[in-house]
Formats: sequence, C-alpha cells, structure tokens
Amino acid sequence: MSEISATTDPESERSDVEVLFSTQAIADRVDQLGGEISRTMDRNCMVIAVLKGSFVFCADLIRALHRAGMHPRIDFLTLSSYGTGTESSGEVKITRDITDDVAGMDVLLLDDILESGRTMAFAKELIQERGAKSVNICVFLDKPNKRKVEIDADHVGFVCPDQFVVGYGLDYAHYYRELPYVGVLRQTP
Ligand code: IMP
Ligand code: MG
Repeated sequence: MSEISATTDPESERSDVEVLFSTQAIADRVDQLGGEISRTMDRNCMVIAVLKGSFVFCADLIRALHRAGMHPRIDFLTLSSYGTGTESSGEVKITRDITDDVAGMDVLLLDDILESGRTMAFAKELIQERGAKSVNICVFLDKPNKRKVEIDADHVGFVCPDQFVVGYGLDYAHYYRELPYVGVLRQTP
C-alpha cells in the first residue's frame, strides 16, 4: 500500500519548473468552463481537440461538460506549428486529420494555448470550409499580447503571462506534458 505524506507533494519536487496554475486551480477552472460552455452550446455539439497539446485539457473538459449535462461527439485534429524549440515556425500543417463529418455540426474547437493565433485560425477556417454550422473556440490558456492574426477564443481557461509555459499537456521539446499543473521553466535546458 502506498503512503501519502506532505513531504511527497509532487508540485514541490521539481526544481526546474515554477508553478503558475496549480492542479487545484486548474480543476476548479475547468469545471467552471464546462458550465459556461453548456450555457452557450448545443448539448450534442462536436468537440474537436487540436493535438497534441490539448489532450489533457480535453479529457478533463469533456467530463466537466458531462457534469454540466452535455453529450458531445469527440474527434481529434493533429496540427503542428512549432518545431522543437520555443518559437513558432509560422506554418501550420495537418499531421493527422479528423475522421468524423462536421457538416451541419456545432463545433467546439479546443486547444491548449492561443498565442499567435495561427493554429486556431487555420483550424477554424478548415472546419468552416467543411460545412460546420458554427465553430466556437475554447482554449485552456490565452496569451493575448502575442497575437499575429486576428482571432479570439469564445472561452478561455486562464490568461497567461508572456512566458513559455509547460505542463497539463503543454510541452517543451516534447517533454513536460505529464505535469498536472502549469509552470514556467526556470531556465531553458
Ligand atoms: P499559436 O502561436 O497560437 O499558433 O500557438 C500554437 C501552438 O504553439 C499551441 O497549440 C502550443 O502547442 C504551442 N505553444 C504556444 N505557446 C506555448 C507555450 O508557452 N508553451 C508550450 N507550447 C506553446
Ligand atoms: Mg500544440
């Protein structure tokens, strides 16, 4: 049997990450978001999670949507815009497409973070072109000062400072996605 003690708090074990949004703060906010979305969207909408970054957020949010009485369809769209560094390449590519038909659907696009806006602008246009009835955007984090194209989210988890953050699905060079909280790397490895 495992023992839990105050000295094994996983949030204090990493010396390389400074916590910005704690596990509990995220859980509370995602639960609220579920309520917010349920008041604005169709009960049987289609959730499209933009991978890879949003997989943790998506898993938590769809259960918050369930608690709020919603019954969505879920699909996944893998896009890439970043290489392995911290600066955007500016180019968005489809790495893996959705498999469901979006024609006539009310779609909720999910992403981990809205920064330049290029990824979500690309995804929104793609889903609109395929005949969705409506496309709403929900992002876990928003860095509004970093926008390069004109796009806003309909639902935002937290406004994020203009720093490179990791955890809760967000990576640095493919690592750190497993952290249950969001933090800033103290120094880029
Ligand atoms: P965009 O600049 O809005 O297109 O952001 C696109 C993608 O960049 C996001 O989906 C993330 O995967 C990644 N990204 C942007 N900012 C950060 C960050 O601070 N940490 C980790 N990934 C980020
Ligand atoms: Mg991403």
